[in-house]
Amino acid sequence: MTNLPSFRRLCSVAFVLSSFSFFMFLFWCRCTGPCLRRGPFTGAVDEKRSLDLLTYAPAWNNLSFPPWRSPKLLKIAVFVKKWPHRSRAGGLERHALTLHLALAKKGHQLHVFTSSPQNESFPRYPFRNLYFHLSNPTGSGYLDQAVVWKQFQAQNSTGKPFDVIHTESVGLMHTRSKGIPNIVVSWHGIAYETIHSDIIQELLRSPGEPRSSSLDDRVMRVVEEVKFFPSYAHHVATSDHVGDVLKRVYMIPEERVHVILNGVDEDIFKPNLVSGIDFKRRLGITDSWAMVIGLAGRLVKDKGYPIMFEALTQVFNESERFRETVLIIVAGDGPWGRRYRDLGSNVIVLGPLEQERLASFYNSINVFFNPTLRAQGLDHTLLEAMISGKPVVATKLASITGSIIVNDDYGYTFTATVDSLKRALYHVWNEGRTVLEKKGQAARKRALRLFSATKMADAYERLFLCISNDARSGEDYCKYQDLSP
Ligand SMILES: *[C@@H]1O[C@H](CO)[C@@H](O)[C@H](O)[C@H]1NC(C)=O
Ligand SMILES: *[C@@H]1O[C@H](CO)[C@@H](O)[C@H](O)[C@H]1NC(C)=O
Ligand SMILES: *[C@@H]1O[C@H](CO)[C@@H](O)[C@H](O)[C@H]1NC(C)=O
Ligand SMILES: *[C@@H]1O[C@H](CO)[C@@H](O)[C@H](O)[C@H]1NC(C)=O
Repeated sequence: MTNLPSFRRLCSVAFVLSSFSFFMFLFWCRCTGPCLRRGPFTGAVDEKRSLDLLTYAPAWNNLSFPPWRSPKLLKIAVFVKKWPHRSRAGGLERHALTLHLALAKKGHQLHVFTSSPQNESFPRYPFRNLYFHLSNPTGSGYLDQAVVWKQFQAQNSTGKPFDVIHTESVGLMHTRSKGIPNIVVSWHGIAYETIHSDIIQELLRSPGEPRSSSLDDRVMRVVEEVKFFPSYAHHVATSDHVGDVLKRVYMIPEERVHVILNGVDEDIFKPNLVSGIDFKRRLGITDSWAMVIGLAGRLVKDKGYPIMFEALTQVFNESERFRETVLIIVAGDGPWGRRYRDLGSNVIVLGPLEQERLASFYNSINVFFNPTLRAQGLDHTLLEAMISGKPVVATKLASITGSIIVNDDYGYTFTATVDSLKRALYHVWNEGRTVLEKKGQAARKRALRLFSATKMADAYERLFLCISNDARSGEDYCKYQDLSP
């Protein structure tokens, strides 16, 4: 007992000495360059070879993930308002379907908490590691939070707890997500982005139409979102623009915002000359057309069909040659369907198509137009057209110009006015098919690198592994090694 103080003194001396020699060692490392086989202390080399994924700002899709089987299989909870019955589904649901089936295929255990379909039977999938937990939606169509939370807790205490919780938009509401460290939310449209749509709709309003209140309401909605978004630990932005807004306007710390662009099934959507020819033959379309323009989606106001209708009407009236040489094929139906059919014999309205026929549709056209006015996330039809090898022409909305049609190599963009859309139609027509084919090839190259379902699933898998990273067991999933030469 009595010699304890002197022992302490001895310890402090030893500590000081060893610290000193440790710092001398570091100093030696910096000064002598090559040290620990890591190369000179320039930093630049290391930065290229390995990076911290959580603070990586560009879209993760741009990283190259080698084909591998994840050494760690995750237990993942998914909250999504509605699970699509078939391929015919809007953006968010299609994303949920494509992504989570891909993760199940990779061997991860998935538990999907979603609402039971009202009329149809629930689809079946050939995966034994994919579980669905159904519940009745609330009157306003949301997941019943009390019920799904109970279902979740039951699964979280059965076997092993969940490694990661993924919610598509507010499938799991912020009131439940607070304080959960391993939750990821994917945003498919935020109010700040939608303000642009509101402005466009207000400008396009005809004098007799009453003014919509959504523009005023939207600004308060942004403020609400800025307040509740931080209740989610991690955020996936589906476009570069939204990633920027989440960090700058919504003030979410950088290491909690990750950009992963949507992906589409590259096995279904791909160039196939024969299927395109076959598609046209079945519709009785001859080879006499100088150019075939494709449109797809619900023919509704906020997808821009009224301004497209007006632009086509004017162009057809102005140029007989345009009307006689350009064919318009519309894959989709909706309130504007009949008016499009009445435009003339060079406009064909097909109604909605199943995925396989939609793939042939893209192969039958020379260029794809999307006049959408809805500034919400990434439009799947643009990605499908590009990965099929077609150039795309779309509205100048920030997610589109920032992540899809980033320059004229892949197509064109226009402002949301009839005049600008008309100019785009004439421009494409004058440039002709050879130029469009070249742009189509560039579009396919870019889409394969950034918009394939495989890339998207790989990126999410890495994010989920990173979030569930267990450093104590020596795991290192948040570090990315660039193995490209
Ligand atoms: C994407 O990757 C390519 C090749 O690795 C690189 O040249 C390019 O700078 C990257 N782009 C971004 C936005 O990170
Ligand atoms: C369910 O089916 C009934 C009758 O077949 C139909 O009237 C109703 O609109 C359907 N509901 C939904 C949500 O599809
Ligand atoms: C799930 O269970 C684990 C282990 O009991 C627990 O630590 C975790 O907080 C639970 N997750 C949630 C969201 O309740
Ligand atoms: C068609 O063009 C003529 C002039 O070239 C114009 O007088 C007429 O109003 C136009 N019709 C429509 C439907 O735009």
